[in-house]
Amino acid sequence: MRILVTGGCGYVGSVLIQRLLKEGHAVTVYDIMWFGNYLSTHENLAVVKGDVRDTENVPMAGHDAIIHLANVANDPCAEIDSGLSWEVNVLATMGLVELAIECGVKQFIYASSGSVYGVKEEDQVTEDLSLVPISDYNKTKMVSERVLLSYEDQITVQIARPATVCGLSPRMRLDLSVNMLTMQALARGKITVFGGKQTRPNIHIEDLVGVYLHFLKEGDNVSGIYNAGFENITIMAIAERAVEVAEAEIIVTESNDPRSYRLSSQKLLDTGYRPQHSVADAMREIAAAYRSGELQDTDGCYNIRTMKKAMSI
Ligand SMILES: NC(=O)c1ccc[n+]([C@@H]2O[C@H](COP(=O)([O-])OP(=O)(O)OC[C@H]3O[C@@H](n4cnc5c(N)ncnc54)[C@H](O)[C@@H]3O)[C@@H](O)[C@H]2O)c1
Repeated sequence: MRILVTGGCGYVGSVLIQRLLKEGHAVTVYDIMWFGNYLSTHENLAVVKGDVRDTENVPMAGHDAIIHLANVANDPCAEIDSGLSWEVNVLATMGLVELAIECGVKQFIYASSGSVYGVKEEDQVTEDLSLVPISDYNKTKMVSERVLLSYEDQITVQIARPATVCGLSPRMRLDLSVNMLTMQALARGKITVFGGKQTRPNIHIEDLVGVYLHFLKEGDNVSGIYNAGFENITIMAIAERAVEVAEAEIIVTESNDPRSYRLSSQKLLDTGYRPQHSVADAMREIAAAYRSGELQDTDGCYNIRTMKKAMSI
C-alpha cells in the first residue's frame, strides 16, 4: 500500500516507518521535525518537512491510507500554547480528513489517547464509557475523535486510544512513565515517584505499531474506536519493576496529576489482534541500550525541554 504518515519522525513514527517499509509498503512522511529526523533513507520512503496546519502542502494525493500521528503530544507541551495545540491537534486533523476524502484516500488512522477517560474507578474501562478529559491535550484528542467520526460515511476511520507507550525508538522519549523511571534507575540510581498509587495502562511500542498495521490490513472490517493498552499497573509498581532492571532507591513525593484509569482492550482483541511484548521487555531493552552506550539521557528525549528551547521559553 501507499501510506502517508504525519508525525512519522516522532517516537512512535520512527519505529512504525521501519516496520511499514519492512512489510513492503511505500511510505511518505510529513513532519515538522520538532525533535529531528532519525529515519534512515530507503528507496520506498519519501520524507517531507512541513506543518500539518498547512494543508495545501500536505502530499496526500496518491495514497491509500493516512496514519495521523502529528500532534502536540503530551499534557505539559499542550499547555505551553493552548491555541497552537488546538490548531495542530484538532483543526489540522479536520483539514487532513477533508483533503484525504478529496484525494480518494480509503483509510484514516488516528492516534488518539487512552488519557481521554480522565479519572475512572471502573475495573474495565471500555470504549463506551463517558470521557472526562482533564487537560487541554486530552480535550484535543476527544474533540478530534468526534470530528473524524463525523466523516465516517465518506472514509474508513480507525482510531486507537493508546496507553502510555514504552520501549526503544531511534527518536527516543524519556518523558513516558516506564521509559523515564527505567532511565532514572539506570542513570541516577534513584527513582522519583509522584504519588505512585495512580494506575496507568501501558503498551510496548512494537505492539502499538502492530495495532496500526492491523488496522491497515483489516480496512473497514475494523473501524471506529479501539483502546490499545495491555498492562494496567500503578506507577509504584512500574518503579518496583525498574529496580529489578537497575538497582535504585525509590523516593515518593506528592503528585498533582490525578489521572488514573485502566484500559480494557477486549474490543481490539476480539478483532484478532494479539500483543507480543511487555513492560518488562521494554525495560530490559532500554537497559541494554543504555549500558551499550547506544541510548543516552539527553534533553532531546524530553518533549517539553525541546519545545521550550525551540520557543525560547
Ligand atoms: N507516546 C505515547 O505514550 C502516546 C500515547 C498515546 C497517544 N500518543 C499519540 O501518538 C502520536 C505520536 O506520539 P509520539 O510519542 O510519537 O510523539 P512525538 O512527539 O515523538 O512525535 C510527534 C511528531 O509529530 C510532529 N509534529 C508535531 N506537530 C506537527 C505539525 N504541526 N506538523 C507536522 N508535524 C508535527 C513532531 O515533529 C514529531 O515528530 C501523538 O499523536 C500522540 O499524542 C502517544
